[in-house]
Amino acid sequence: MEKQETPDRVYKSPRQSAVETRFLLMPSQANPYGTAFGGAIVAEIDMVASMAAQRHCEGLVVTAGIDSIQFEQPIYIGDQVALRACVNYAGNTSMEVGVQVVRENPLRSESCVATTAHLTFVAIDETTRKPIAVPGLRPETEEEKRRYDNARRRVQRRKELRSKKDKRA
Ligand SMILES: CC(C)(COP(=O)(O)OP(=O)(O)OC[C@H]1O[C@@H](n2cnc3c(N)ncnc32)[C@H](O)[C@@H]1OP(=O)(O)O)[C@@H](O)C(=O)NCCC(=O)NCCS
Repeated sequence: MEKQETPDRVYKSPRQSAVETRFLLMPSQANPYGTAFGGAIVAEIDMVASMAAQRHCEGLVVTAGIDSIQFEQPIYIGDQVALRACVNYAGNTSMEVGVQVVRENPLRSESCVATTAHLTFVAIDETTRKPIAVPGLRPETEEEKRRYDNARRRVQRRKELRSKKDKRA
């Protein structure tokens, strides 16, 4: 069911915190076969996603989980790597951020989605380092609403899995 907005909470749109960046894939970030080393791409994804989460809550965040990452296409040395991060969903203290990584080769006029990922960040208090409330998310476009609904279902599933795990422990 759609979460109702409350009057005492600040709401922000995904557009207000979205982050876009790009870099050139250098040999130091590649494996011996000349394509990107997965760990290097994960680090860039974590970085850009954390910036979007920080912009949403305007405070400190920690990565709580990287729940899905799909390496769909290789990225080659010399490719431009464009990353776009958007907050998909905001819970009470956590935010799900989606990242799309596009590989571009301007010399060959090529561009394709290489990697997609979903990450969860939790806002923490500067002093106590305990989770603190984040602004709500107000999706505006049809695409943002679709992402919000899908993210809400994933968040619910993750909570159920963690609670099952806790019961087993
Ligand atoms: C993330 C962290 C702050 C959560 O603290 P916690 O006391 O377990 O918090 P809670 O159980 O109260 O959960 C807080 C929120 O985080 C979410 N959450 C907690 N663990 C999560 C996980 N593994 N994946 C996704 N969400 C998670 C909860 O659902 C809750 O969301 P909500 O408030 O929006 O409903 C804590 O586990 C931590 O500090 N982890 C280490 C983070 C870190 O060092 N990251 C760097 C990577 S090495």
